[in-house]
Amino acid sequence: MKILVINGPNINMLGIREPEIYGSVTLDKIEEGLREYSKNFKNLELEFFQSNSEGAIVDKIQSALKENIDGIIINPAAYTHTSIAILDSIKAIKKPVVEVHLSNTNSREEFRSVSYVSKAAIGTVQGFKQDSYKMALFGLYNYLNE
Ligand code: DQA
Repeated sequence: MKILVINGPNINMLGIREPEIYGSVTLDKIEEGLREYSKNFKNLELEFFQSNSEGAIVDKIQSALKENIDGIIINPAAYTHTSIAILDSIKAIKKPVVEVHLSNTNSREEFRSVSYVSKAAIGTVQGFKQDSYKMALFGLYNYLNE
């Protein structure tokens, strides 16, 4: 089983960027932690992708069809609240997608309460900083093994 983990704009700035909101762990460390955590699950392979560009994220989501990806974990970052293109690409591939956020977007500015990606996600995990990704992996793995 292969799960693709996608991170959107400015997630590569973790560690420097607003640590009081996002924590001080870098994206490299989050990915390393997920790789370690994934050893708890049988027959699971992870692939990581980060981009600051909306089109590159859409291209990567579309590539899931050719690359035999079983499911996607995505933190679309600011594109969560704006991107119909990312929403449409998720709908197009018909694969389970879990939305992740480090912060609880519902307790922040009003504009962060809107998520286009949620319309197509099987579930959302948010507010647990880097652990949100682990919880999403647990949920998606079990969903795929149902
Ligand atoms: C975020 C929340 C978004 O509102 C914000 O634009 C981000 C990060 C999070 O993980 O908490 O870049 O997706």
